[in-house]
Amino acid sequence: MSELFKMTDYPVLPGRLRLLQSQLREMRFDGRILLQNGDRGYATAPSNIALIKYWGKEPGREQIPVNSSVSLTLGAFRSFTEVIVRGRFFPEHERTTAPEGRHEISFVDGQAAIPADTKVDRLLHAMFGDWAEEIGLTILSRNNFPTACGMASSASGMAALVGAIADLLQLEKHFTHADLSYWLAEWSRFGSGSATRSALRGPGCSFVAWEREENEEGLWTRTSALESEAGLARKIHHCVLVVDDSPKDIPSSRGHQLAASSPLQAIRVAGLARKMDNIKKAIFDGDFATIIDLAEDDAFSLHAVMLSGKERINYIKPATEVLIAEFVKRRNELGEMALWTLDAGPNIHIVYLSESAQFVENFVDWARQHQKGKLRILGGRYAPGLALGLENFTQIQRRELIVDGLHE
Ligand code: PMV
Repeated sequence: MSELFKMTDYPVLPGRLRLLQSQLREMRFDGRILLQNGDRGYATAPSNIALIKYWGKEPGREQIPVNSSVSLTLGAFRSFTEVIVRGRFFPEHERTTAPEGRHEISFVDGQAAIPADTKVDRLLHAMFGDWAEEIGLTILSRNNFPTACGMASSASGMAALVGAIADLLQLEKHFTHADLSYWLAEWSRFGSGSATRSALRGPGCSFVAWEREENEEGLWTRTSALESEAGLARKIHHCVLVVDDSPKDIPSSRGHQLAASSPLQAIRVAGLARKMDNIKKAIFDGDFATIIDLAEDDAFSLHAVMLSGKERINYIKPATEVLIAEFVKRRNELGEMALWTLDAGPNIHIVYLSESAQFVENFVDWARQHQKGKLRILGGRYAPGLALGLENFTQIQRRELIVDGLHE
């Protein structure tokens, strides 16, 4: 490990996380946490789609966003991750080929394991500390949706990885519910900012806020589920119109760096505090008309920032524009409860209430014809947020994503 990372390469951790990490160290030394060759941990995490987007990071800080954000949890779009320990002090024949202290990762079932990329390796070393000298992990990870097409696969992937490690260390047994929730959200954030919004467990995490928070320790963030007194989650549906599933040319990490170079970024960020208050209230009240306004407005301003930076980033394809224009025209004529949004990709997310299911179905039929059969629709049943352990993993895996269908 030492040749790979120096202590100074590790992220600076907030006080509460440092405390939890030192508790883990103690548990490791007094034998409450013991890892053996072949031990396994499992987790499955949902993706999420931001309604108020995170774009741009605080300079010099690790994964602190320049603005707070809110997302809808996409319970049907998931990563499934298994981690397996390869111990250094175990019989040679039980080891795999990767050197000790190095992690290897396999993203697709059956594909040979490759060394984990620097981002994952660095995260794992930071999580395990000096223990990383002794163990390597084999990580098997699979998504049930196309990756790298603006579908936030890094969000579900990182949250599932962090969750699988929590399961491996049996943290549900060792930490309180609140401490574990915090640990999962914080490590997921270090993995990939938007992953923190995929790291909440249990029912009631359909809407998640990731907010900047100034406290006595300085500027950090807080991830929390948003309540809806109006029971909005029960009425909400989501699907993606996949216009193009080829990998994007410019990763979102580059986009975050370029955000500040757009003259529009400061204007966007200045208006977001009020929009955050408004969307939280609208979710609480079940005021979907306001959510439509805020989400579409923010998607437009996100892409305006992308298009006006030092390097122009254009994720929007001609088909994306045509489909959105037709969707908005029809929706406005009929007063339907449905919205569109985009992430860092050309694929259109539609979020709608049950009462507008027929409208969305009709629109999708039109869109398919317009795209001459080239459009793929992904949707699916709701499953809970991040879930730890083999039992949940197996159960949720049975509920596959629905491809080219909208309803259960
Ligand atoms: O978490 P990242 O670095 O993949 O950035 C996500 C950025 C957007 O998806 C465009 C917006 C968001 O809030 O998810």
